[in-house]
Amino acid sequence: MKYSQIQFSQSHADIDLYQLQELFNLAAFWAKERSIKDWSIAIANSEPVISISDGESLIGFARATSDGIYRATIWDVVIHPDYQGKGLGIKLVETVLTHPRMQVERVYLMTTHQQTFYEKIGFQVNSTTTMVLFNQSNFDAFANGEIHLQESLEA
Ligand SMILES: CC(C)(COP(=O)(O)OP(=O)(O)OC[C@H]1O[C@@H](n2cnc3c(N)ncnc32)[C@H](O)[C@@H]1OP(=O)(O)O)[C@@H](O)C(=O)NCCC(=O)NCCS
Repeated sequence: MKYSQIQFSQSHADIDLYQLQELFNLAAFWAKERSIKDWSIAIANSEPVISISDGESLIGFARATSDGIYRATIWDVVIHPDYQGKGLGIKLVETVLTHPRMQVERVYLMTTHQQTFYEKIGFQVNSTTTMVLFNQSNFDAFANGEIHLQESLEA
């Protein structure tokens, strides 16, 4: 691999959504059916958004959401399979963590299989705080444009 061609970017505008969709279809079991439109909403509402490219090819991605002071959560960390095991995943997560929006009291993430990877970066398994609401009917209505954010906040 020619490392000189590999670049990290924090710019939302640098992300080719079609390549992003392809990367997640290939390497992320939890995000294989996401549409371009939904990806653009997720990216617009995330900060930081970090992408890694090799020349013109998107080979890594991660994003986070943060309240800027108390809590932040990292989402959608992926390195293309051809580039895994070369240190890029750790560098990607570290780049997310050093962003000014991530200087908060606690950073959370959800992972099914990658606990060992995240432990290398300093994360600890935390079984006491997690609950989830599978908000499927609302999500479908948003995605289909049947309800808008303001309407749902007023409901
Ligand atoms: C998880 C992922 C981002 C790691 O990226 P990567 O570039 O392969 O990781 P790195 O090369 O930076 O690995 C860093 C260290 O973690 C270790 N590591 C990476 N993945 C691991 C795994 N699944 N289990 C155990 N250790 C792992 C590496 O061996 C390396 O250890 P070392 O520093 O002692 O050599 C990548 O494997 C991936 O995209 N997987 C598919 C998508 C996914 O599961 N994402 C995470 C969702 S929460």
